Amino acid sequence: MNFIIAKDYDAMGRAAATIVAAKVLTKPNAVLGLATGSTPISLYKELVALYKKGELDFSNIKSFNLDEYVGLPPTNDQSYIYFMKDNLFDHINIKKENYHVPNGNSSNLEDEAKHYEKMIKDAGGIDIQVLGIGPNGHIGFNEPDTKFEKVTHETGLTESTIEANKRFFNKKEDVPTKAITMGIKTIMMAKSIIILATGKGKADIVKSAFFGDIVPSVPASILQLHHNVTVIVDTEAGEKIKKHI
Ligand code: PGA
Repeated sequence: MNFIIAKDYDAMGRAAATIVAAKVLTKPNAVLGLATGSTPISLYKELVALYKKGELDFSNIKSFNLDEYVGLPPTNDQSYIYFMKDNLFDHINIKKENYHVPNGNSSNLEDEAKHYEKMIKDAGGIDIQVLGIGPNGHIGFNEPDTKFEKVTHETGLTESTIEANKRFFNKKEDVPTKAITMGIKTIMMAKSIIILATGKGKADIVKSAFFGDIVPSVPASILQLHHNVTVIVDTEAGEKIKKHI
């Protein structure tokens, strides 16, 4: 694993954008795996800025998002499709038919999951997957204790994730309890991965995920077995790993 400790949140986003931009430049038809949450916003801001400066062209780029809540309409500002349009897709020249977020409103989520997985395969697989990490070690909505070998599937959110995400909703009861998510296996099949973390609230999980045992109770720990992972943290999130790298 490679580690980058950036001085602050914006520098973390710039470091991540440099890696994503290099991929977009060297492979103009690359397939990006994208994430939502508060963590990657600085990355997306930087990619938009590079696009506006004329330095990046997304016209042949494809993307697949990690996950989506079940049951939130796309017009709901907490849905992940809304987030992605708001923070990235509406500000760059990616084609509408080329970006994908799982459909959490499908009447058959099992079929939707299979179809999503097939679309990723048909696109040639993910060249670079962006990840955040939950305070409980989840990646996507792969919560602790789920099996490592799953592909895209419907899942329930744990109490800890509902608690962590309620800040985005009016009240806790509004947080959806289910989601559709790429599985750990889907994520591990990506050719390269960058995982970002910011703030002191993530310092413990960053240490246990990347320097602790590889166990399904810490889903992100499996990334230690991937051949091309870059961990990008800010000073606070990197506080407990700095003497190990
Ligand atoms: P956050 O979420 O970026 O909002 O901290 C990370 C995650 O749950 O994956």
